[in-house]
This record gives sequence, C-alpha cells and structure tokens, in this order.
Amino acid sequence: MSYLDAKYGLKGKTAIITGGGGTLCSAIGEGFACAGANVILWDINPAGLAAKSEVIAKTCGNKSQVATVEVNLMDENSIAQALEKSVKIFGSVDILLNGAGGNRGKGPLVDLKTEDFEFVLKLNLLAGCILPSKHLAKYWIDNKIQGRIINIASMAGFNPLSGIWAYSSAKAAVMNQTMGHAKELAPYGIRVNAIAPGFFVADQNRKLLLNDDGSPTQRGKDVLARTPMGGFGLPEYLTGATIFLASDASNFVTGVTLPIDGGYLCNNI
Ligand SMILES: NC(=O)c1ccc[n+]([C@@H]2O[C@H](COP(=O)([O-])OP(=O)(O)OC[C@H]3O[C@@H](n4cnc5c(N)ncnc54)[C@H](O)[C@@H]3O)[C@@H](O)[C@H]2O)c1
Repeated sequence: MSYLDAKYGLKGKTAIITGGGGTLCSAIGEGFACAGANVILWDINPAGLAAKSEVIAKTCGNKSQVATVEVNLMDENSIAQALEKSVKIFGSVDILLNGAGGNRGKGPLVDLKTEDFEFVLKLNLLAGCILPSKHLAKYWIDNKIQGRIINIASMAGFNPLSGIWAYSSAKAAVMNQTMGHAKELAPYGIRVNAIAPGFFVADQNRKLLLNDDGSPTQRGKDVLARTPMGGFGLPEYLTGATIFLASDASNFVTGVTLPIDGGYLCNNI
C-alpha cells in the first residue's frame, strides 16, 4: 500500500452520506468512493438518490461500492430504520457525513414566519446534525467502532447572512455542537469535525446567487466581492478536506470546523 493510501485511503470503510441525493454531498460521495470507501447515500428524494448513485458508481468504476437508502431525517424512527438497513448492506458503518440541509425564505426580521423558522432550524440542526449523530454514536459505542462524523456548517455559522435567520442560527449551532460532540465522544475514539463551505451554486441557492442568464445577482456580486480567491465554489473543492477528516490522516483532529471558502472569512479592510 502506498504512503498516501495508508494515510488518506478509505478502503474497507463504509460512509453514510446524508443529503447524498443533492449537489455538494454527492460530490463528497464521489470523493469517498474514489478513495476506496463503500458509500451509502441517504436522502428523502428518491430521484436524487438514483441519479447521484449512478454518477458515483461511474466515477469510481465499481457499482457494488455504492448504495442508497431513502430516509426522512426529520423523523427519528426513519433514521433508526435507515441505520439498521445500512448496517446490513456492507456489514458495518464507520463514517457519517451529516450533509442534509437547506433554507426556506429570506426577509426582514419583522416579517419572520415562526413555522418557517422552526422548519429550517429542525432541518439543519436536528435532522442535519444531532439526530443522525445520536444514532450513529450509540451504534459505534455499542459495537466498539471508532467512527468519524463530519458535519456541514456554513459561512452563516460564523457571521449571520442577512435575512436568513433560522439557517444562520442552525449552522452556528452545528459548529457549537461539533465541539460539544467531539469532547463527549473522544473517550470512545470517535472524532467529530465539520467543514464550512463558502458559496457553492446548488439547486437550493441558485436563484439567490445567479440570474436566469447565468450572471450573478446583486447578492452573488456581494459574495464574489468578498471572496479573495474569486468565483463561487465547485463541489469537488470539498472532497480533499472531507477525505482528510474521514481518514487516518486527521487522527488527532477533533472538534474543528474547517472553512472551504476561498478566503471569504478574511474580511479585513
Ligand atoms: N451550496 C452552498 O453554497 C452551501 C454552503 C454552505 C453550506 N451548505 C450546506 O451543504 C449541505 C448540502 O447542500 P447543497 O447545497 O448540496 O443542497 P442540496 O439541496 O443540493 O442538498 C440537500 C439534500 O438534502 C436532502 N434533504 C432535505 N430534507 C431532507 C430530509 N428531511 N431527510 C433527508 N434528506 C433531506 C435534499 O433532498 C437534498 O438532496 C447543506 O447542509 C447546506 O446547508 C451549502
């Protein structure tokens, strides 16, 4: 085995990737599969699961490395059932990439709709982080598996995005809980880290960042003006960092949130 395969390779590991039917997490799935892992995509959207699993199988060249499980992460029973199914597929699970999430609405605080706030907070914090981590952690502790969790935070977790109240709150909480879970689970050899992507064009934010002709909206221009490296992120930019956090290369790293943002946070004058 080469030095790099021993350090960064994921051969023999199995990863659950929530939100795996979507843009960013399916790209992370491609990275994991190409690094040798078995990948189980979890998503509520069957069409997304079918399309993305096919792409991943083609890229890594081995269909038997990729599986899908339909799940509603807003429902804890559905998570428990999905985990049971997933363990049966490849025999065990070693990695959890908590990627499901998204936003609903944007507007002034005085117009905030409580039901929208509650939905987005639940989607990004409970469904997108806490509940899958709870179930995987219990499974790993019971089975003495030194698992790895990677959460997906956001620039909104460092600095709230204007008009995006619940999403910003939830992503700040994801970073907070990354540290809390890391400390709680370290005695079991379980590591918990997060990535914080900058601005990547995906289905859920395309209209916010791009006009129909592909030119940036005013918000898109504001983002680009604050991104020293220029441009929006491309999904494949997330693979190196997530493979690092999922692999033995990061063996003594836990509780951190790694920005992948083209320098967006270096907002000096
Ligand atoms: N795109 C960006 O610029 C950006 C930036 C920072 C963070 N993020 C985060 O990255 C993650 C992936 O986002 P994306 O941009 O690829 O969006 P996406 O909409 O393409 O992917 C999100 C996926 O989550 C799934 N999902 C939604 N509700 C679910 C539920 N109840 N149960 C199971 N699955 C459910 C969706 O079906 C979808 O496939 C999210 O957590 C998002 O907040 C995105």
